[in-house]
Amino acid sequence: MLGDTAMRRIAILNQKGGVGKTTTAVNLSAALAKLGQKVCLLDLDPQAHATTHLGIEPDGEMPSIYDVLVRQRPLADVRREVGENLSLIGADINLAAAEVELAGIVGREVILREAMENDAEDYDYALMDCGPSLGVLTLNALAATHEVFIPLQPHFFALHGLSKLLETTALVSRRINPGLKVTAIAVCLYESGTKLAQEVLGEVKSFLDKSRGTNVPWAEARVFETRVRRNVKLAEAPSHGKTIFEYAPSCPGAMDYMALAREVSGIAVEHSERVRETSAA
Ligand SMILES: Nc1ncnc2c1ncn2[C@@H]1O[C@H](COP(=O)(O)OP(=O)(O)O)[C@@H](O)[C@H]1O
Ligand SMILES: [Mg+2]
Repeated sequence: MLGDTAMRRIAILNQKGGVGKTTTAVNLSAALAKLGQKVCLLDLDPQAHATTHLGIEPDGEMPSIYDVLVRQRPLADVRREVGENLSLIGADINLAAAEVELAGIVGREVILREAMENDAEDYDYALMDCGPSLGVLTLNALAATHEVFIPLQPHFFALHGLSKLLETTALVSRRINPGLKVTAIAVCLYESGTKLAQEVLGEVKSFLDKSRGTNVPWAEARVFETRVRRNVKLAEAPSHGKTIFEYAPSCPGAMDYMALAREVSGIAVEHSERVRETSAA
């Protein structure tokens, strides 16, 4: 069930827009599903980009995560299969009103966590795509999750706003979710070979190193080895309502997200791929 502790729950979060959260949430989910993992993706952004990326057109009529948060509908009523091993809890524009509608409701930050705990389906992964704010929707993700992945675009302003985001995780871990951990930074929209990207990543790593051994939620965070390179196919796939594996399965974007999924899951690279990687190196 979604409340099962063996399941990994991962919130994909950065209040900065356009850093690759949704692209990562969708394609990492799809890659994990391809590796045979049972995945449920939850779209917590009123813009519903993850929902449309998976080919579901939110019409405001179909049940969505809004109904779970505001109307106490069970997740099972909202969930739909969108591929082999992959299901979706979709969002729609109604979700934009959730902030206001939940104001004054006691325990509004833990509604999603309770819904997940009451869910009977078995999953290996629940991924949550968050919107660009630190409001009640994101707080619900942070209260429900075990892990946070922070997608980061390595340019000059990448570190701006990161401290606010990390402070929020610290607050949530103190008050509502003591097990919360920021486990990784995922480098997205990577331009290989640029000096700036190297510098920014150097800064991120030294910042994380300073927190080792302390009790902040990011004390054990690492930067994934996999860099998701800038690849136009990743930008085209959403408008076709397809994951990168359906849209362009052999493009660099698909390879990067598959590599990321292997890094996340620890599922080993198959022999054939290893040979290809070695000969390419
Ligand atoms: N690696 C990439 N290469 C090319 N375009 C990308 C890549 N990652 C994301 N994009 C595009 O950049 C834009 C922002 O990405 P998105 O995942 O929607 O960010 P966020 O959810 O953080 O706002 C989208 O148009 C998306 O298609
Ligand atoms: Mg998004």
